Amino acid sequence: MKVMVLGGAGYIGSHVVKEMIKAGHQVTVFDNMSSGREENLFDESAFIKGDILEPINLAEAFASDDFDAVVHLAAFKAAGESMVRPEKYSVNNITGTINILNAMCDADIKKIVFSSSAAIFGEPVRLPIDEDHPKNPENYYGFTKLEIERFLGWYDKLKGIKFAALRYFNAAGYDVDGEISGLEQSPANLLPVIMEAAAGMRDKLQIFGDDYETKDGTGVRDYVHVSDLAAGHVMALNYISDKNESLTVNLGSENGLSVLELLEEARKISGKEIPAEIVGRRPGDPAKLVASSAKAKEKLGWVAKYSDCETLIKTSWEVYKGRLDKLLK
Ligand code: WQD
Repeated sequence: MKVMVLGGAGYIGSHVVKEMIKAGHQVTVFDNMSSGREENLFDESAFIKGDILEPINLAEAFASDDFDAVVHLAAFKAAGESMVRPEKYSVNNITGTINILNAMCDADIKKIVFSSSAAIFGEPVRLPIDEDHPKNPENYYGFTKLEIERFLGWYDKLKGIKFAALRYFNAAGYDVDGEISGLEQSPANLLPVIMEAAAGMRDKLQIFGDDYETKDGTGVRDYVHVSDLAAGHVMALNYISDKNESLTVNLGSENGLSVLELLEEARKISGKEIPAEIVGRRPGDPAKLVASSAKAKEKLGWVAKYSDCETLIKTSWEVYKGRLDKLLK
């Protein structure tokens, strides 16, 4: 298929592009490069610089070839920032997606794979979190993703656009073949923060609370390897294409890892001390989030293959260690 990947130069997008190419699709990346990186682009894919907030950019990009499908990962994703700058998230995430859907209508593209998020669920009322779990986002970012899922439902009903909404849990790790190495700038997520502390790019890790009711008192999350997520996109595109039916699934490892477990494994694998201090809880952080991915397994045959603690850390450390080695040369 001819696939347009919006946000394909970003952290998750670049991994998706790689899997799509591997699966034999012809890929065009569309990215405004606000957080995308040139080093994340592949020779095998075409590139169009453009912005989803400019309908003309989308119209021209969609007219540049006969696209069968769109994969949409062009979004802001910092949950904390979304609470102080909701306008930014309204415009980019919601208006941007409406622009995409309208441009797809004009260009007669009938398939979209969308990056949704576990952030749509909010504080869990039961674990593991299946697709039917109540949806009460705790942050504005999660609200934008939930609203977009609802728009997708309507565009399916009214315009016949089939969608796959993939609700990622905590995306982590780097390409298992070591081919993608673009670092995220100013990361706030746990694993890149641990890696930066290990590589000497920051002083220490701050552990947000050690008094949760979890195995060791620190927050537990479902970390899912980005190569697993990427494979999920290819499977989801095949599904909506073969069945001509939309699909909403959780993508998680079904395994809860604590902050301390990741930190210990990172110390072991990197051989670095990784200074850490316990500080207060971060507001809005639930104690524990773990996915049920039973539906993804049943519908897509998807299971997480690389989302164990060791592979998550090893693939990340390879990339950060590479940076460190370059600096020390
Ligand atoms: C993980 C754990 C922290 C940083 C966020 C978004 C969510 C989704 C994924 C996109 C928690 C602890 C973290 C640090 C720490 N994004 N932590 N020190 O909050 O589960 O989810 O990213 O869809 O929408 O909210 O991820 O990586 O920030 O935190 O102790 O410096 O690590 O308290 O327990 P989170 P995270």
